[in-house]
Amino acid sequence: MSRILLPTPTVKQSRSDVVWDGSDPFSAGPLTDRFGRVHRDLRISVTDRCSLRCTYCMPAEGVAWLPKADMLTIDEIVEVARAACRLGITQVRLTGGEPLIRPDIVDIVERLSHLPTDTGTLRLSVTTNGLMLPGLIDDLKNAGLERINISLDTVNAGTYQKLTRRDRFARAVAGVEAARDSGLRPLKINAVAMRGVNDKELSDLVSFAIDHDAQMRFIEQMPLDGGHTWNRQKMLTADEILQELSTRFDLEPLDGRGSSPAQLYRIDGSDHTVGVIASVTRPFCGDCDRVRLTADGQLRNCLFARKEQDLRTILRDGELDENDRQMAIARVLRGAVAVKKPGHGIDEPGFIQPDRPMSAIGG
Ligand code: 5AD
Ligand code: SF4
Repeated sequence: MSRILLPTPTVKQSRSDVVWDGSDPFSAGPLTDRFGRVHRDLRISVTDRCSLRCTYCMPAEGVAWLPKADMLTIDEIVEVARAACRLGITQVRLTGGEPLIRPDIVDIVERLSHLPTDTGTLRLSVTTNGLMLPGLIDDLKNAGLERINISLDTVNAGTYQKLTRRDRFARAVAGVEAARDSGLRPLKINAVAMRGVNDKELSDLVSFAIDHDAQMRFIEQMPLDGGHTWNRQKMLTADEILQELSTRFDLEPLDGRGSSPAQLYRIDGSDHTVGVIASVTRPFCGDCDRVRLTADGQLRNCLFARKEQDLRTILRDGELDENDRQMAIARVLRGAVAVKKPGHGIDEPGFIQPDRPMSAIGG
């Protein structure tokens, strides 16, 4: 069988004509950076807490949680999202930690789903470990949720327990079933590919996804773990993932990735696809259209940003009226996008892992 390799994404050239000049932030077109990347996607982490302790994400004892008083309230989250929509954001993904453990998650979805955007109303998706989906999915759907990504790294109960340090595999599967039955599509299952952990069951994961009418996506592990244990040599590469999958399936690469990080492959000539997210070996930064809001109200222009912009202070400044606040938030958003770097540089010498762990940034 011929070896399938991933195409290398293009890097955009720097342009000075598209950067915000500091004038009225609401009259300066969409959120464009100096590489011409237009930002449409806001990732909101609604909590850094989680019901699991995945070894690649958190140490067993957890991480130092954000103080409760620092976490944005539902009103504050909506206020940031409203300003973002006025700047051209059209979709929000809710992440964590585990977003569904936030008690007001259904209200958050409901409130956000009414925000007007350039293309209608805000489109909402969630990335979840799935454990709470059986009880919540109907309410989330009625509140306006459109799409679900479930993080599930293994279909082996023992491996699940070792990896997440919790005995919840059956509940995770029930979550996938609930998502399947909800009819929300496309349904995606994400797995971080890890040597010696799940590398022998990648094909089983694909079959599991197909059985649940979902798209399986494999992610190269990035240096974002709370324990700072990431190691380039240990990481399973996209080429290795594809090689492994090709022993079981006939894979045909599909064109047109757009701003999606996943390169898709048709499976055995069917309508099913599998995605490979080569975050490290083939970074897709050139097509990135994302900004991120942390649960404590800090804006990040990249997963790997070393600097954050503080929105919480603006949100809690009693001197500002609503208009001033919207204007101040919009200025920070424009400024953060204006200084966004061309890429994360994981493979470059001098790369430094961000201080915040993934659980406090959101995927
Ligand atoms: N590298 C790649 N993906 C990661 N995730 C968490 N930590 C990492 C990492 N270091 C994934 C989770 C989930 C999403 C939020 O990010 O498995 O799918
Ligand atoms: Fe929780 Fe996701 Fe981290 Fe696992 S990877 S501990 S599910 S936040």
